[in-house]
Amino acid sequence: MKLAPSILSADFANLARDIQLVEDGGADYIHIDVMDGHFVPNITFGADTVAAIRPVTKLPLDCHLMVEYPENYIKQFAAAGADIITVHPESTPHIHRVIQLIKDQGVKAGIAVNPGTPIETMEHVLGIVDLVLVMTVNPGYGGQTFIPEMVKKIKKAKEIKDREGYTYEIQVDGGIAEQTAKQCKEAGATVFVAGSYIYNAENPLNQLNLLMDAVR
Ligand code: DX5
Ligand code: ZN
Repeated sequence: MKLAPSILSADFANLARDIQLVEDGGADYIHIDVMDGHFVPNITFGADTVAAIRPVTKLPLDCHLMVEYPENYIKQFAAAGADIITVHPESTPHIHRVIQLIKDQGVKAGIAVNPGTPIETMEHVLGIVDLVLVMTVNPGYGGQTFIPEMVKKIKKAKEIKDREGYTYEIQVDGGIAEQTAKQCKEAGATVFVAGSYIYNAENPLNQLNLLMDAVR
């Protein structure tokens, strides 16, 4: 089981400090939410921020691209030091090509599906991805409520994985706290993204430990 704190809820004026905090606390990835104000109604970071973060942590940088036409930015994010690039099939007419482009850069490739997108429609690319991100909220903001219906989708992703012998990680993102993480783990999730649960608390390290105890 892996924990991927999302810096979306970190203190942007103290990003290095907030990243080191979770690294020292045993986090596995740093989850970076890239939003363009088109695919989702919010704007966050770009590749320059990823490049600035790269030297402050040894952890893999898990870049979740919530942008239209991600194909236009893959090379930039790879050059900035992304270790995993996850894209939404809803954001491009050519998801297969984008996955190939990510892999051509020597970066791990993920696909992220919105709550309204069935995982079955992705059947023909699931064999070539390293990670499947089941969104458990509608992307765009931190601090939203977990959508319980998504547990079924996690199970579907796990069923397909087992049936086909695929090796992808199943990541969940949105509304993750102790109880929701447990439900997702039981359904087959292996990577847990948490933003507000960790960073909005008075003691983020304590929250990280609680979440680790819940899923490990
Ligand atoms: C939502 C982002 C998430 C967000 C999760 O669009 O993809 O990564 O940071 O935030 P919480 O954990 O607060 O739901
Ligand atoms: Zn995310």
